[in-house]
Amino acid sequence: MCRSGGRFARSLTQRHGDTEKDILGKRLHTVPPCLCVKNEQSLSDKDGEVTDVTRSYLPRKSQVERELRRMKKPEMSFSVPPCICVKNEQSLSPSPVFSLNNRVIDEAFMQAALTEARRGLGATSPNPAVGAVIVRGGQVVGSGWHRKAGLPHAEIEALRSLADPSLAQGATLYVTLEPCSTHGRTPPCSEAILNAGIRRVVIGTLDPNPAHAGRAVGLLRERGVEVRCGVLEEECRRLNLAFNKWIATRMPWVIAKAGMSLDARISRPPEAPRWITNEASRADTHQMRAQVDAILVGGETVRADNPQLTVRGVPGEAHRQPWRVIVSRSGNLPPEAALFTDAHRDRTLVFTGRPLREVLQELGQREITSVIIEGGMRTLGEAFDARLVDQVCFYVAPMLLGGPKLVTGGLGAGQTSEAPRIVNPTYERFGDDLRLMGEVEYPKE
Ligand SMILES: NC(=O)c1ccc[n+]([C@@H]2O[C@H](COP(=O)([O-])OP(=O)(O)OC[C@H]3O[C@@H](n4cnc5c(N)ncnc54)[C@H](OP(=O)(O)O)[C@@H]3O)[C@@H](O)[C@H]2O)c1
Repeated sequence: MCRSGGRFARSLTQRHGDTEKDILGKRLHTVPPCLCVKNEQSLSDKDGEVTDVTRSYLPRKSQVERELRRMKKPEMSFSVPPCICVKNEQSLSPSPVFSLNNRVIDEAFMQAALTEARRGLGATSPNPAVGAVIVRGGQVVGSGWHRKAGLPHAEIEALRSLADPSLAQGATLYVTLEPCSTHGRTPPCSEAILNAGIRRVVIGTLDPNPAHAGRAVGLLRERGVEVRCGVLEEECRRLNLAFNKWIATRMPWVIAKAGMSLDARISRPPEAPRWITNEASRADTHQMRAQVDAILVGGETVRADNPQLTVRGVPGEAHRQPWRVIVSRSGNLPPEAALFTDAHRDRTLVFTGRPLREVLQELGQREITSVIIEGGMRTLGEAFDARLVDQVCFYVAPMLLGGPKLVTGGLGAGQTSEAPRIVNPTYERFGDDLRLMGEVEYPKE
């Protein structure tokens, strides 16, 4: 029994080992109890066969289907990723093998819920992106994601997607965020889960609102539902960094973004081509813009660059453009600027003579949960001095521009020990440019 459990666990992590051949290859059905976990690609049915890197040892889909028919389980579906095929009943019995695999299985289905959740990224504010799947007999029978504030939550979408509502009875619901337990724009999901007859709920992360955290867990457990929390918790939490901050503080998540030269200059020489960074970096910026509620710049950037601050070249852009926010002390802003004259001019806000913190507070009150500050030097400097930036996204182009405009101005840190640091930075290449991303950590005051 345990041998197959161990093999199963290895098959998830060790994609090209000898052992897989036994499990997922020719002898797929010979080692009971056998659970085969495959990802979306591995079961896409292009040309009638498995199409990912594991092709060499995965069976063709038709082979699997034939085998399922032989096992009298033809109803098992391969269309919902990731697909867990339970090859016999033993593997679902509460045996040591099952408990060994339970965590792996829960994580695989939570990945499926995360995939659902990502479909809503950028569209749900001020709500979080949430995904859910309903699993019965080892397979996904329902799935859904939260599409937009005011529309049903992911759990309700998943319940509604069931071919037959009775499929929820005795099933397990995987959801990336703790279900709501209070009336908001929609009725509480915890009630809907109970009414549907779900027997087990697996939660990625608890409600980040301290007033509600754990409440649905208690309610469900009181009514006899088994609840497991914290499966892929970090991934589920990171999906909604902006919401998590905003719901607890009513301040938006702030990203400092700049395109700069290797010597940290952000301003091109007069008459030089408009961009410092390359097309790939700029396309990436548009992806990021598509996921935030607002973009903020200083008055000088409006005067010098006449930026549009819109989302361009991203699918779905017609549905959503971020707010454009200008901060100015003088109020001396050109009325002919694109921000005041283009098709999205009703999405431009001007704040005159207000400290940045107050501006951000007001944006938070307007249910703006995330803001990119796109410069320039003085505005970013003030934001860092006031410890308002949560994350940086800097694109560095391999050139030396020189000149007076650095990426951040402001007072700066007195000593290196007082400087904000980027924690767990990631570095990604976009052609010849490099993108540095990471969260900002400020030393204790
Ligand atoms: N490469 C890049 O990614 C990038 C991005 C943006 C900008 N840039 C460049 O950066 C240069 C502009 O940078 P900069 O440092 O000169 O100017 P800036 O930061 O764009 O604007 C400074 C102005 O913003 C306003 N401001 C700043 N903080 C404020 C606050 N707390 N409250 C109210 N108003 C506030 C003031 O506007 P008023 O002057 O109107 O009073 C201030 O003079 C331009 O050359 C532009 O091309 C580069």
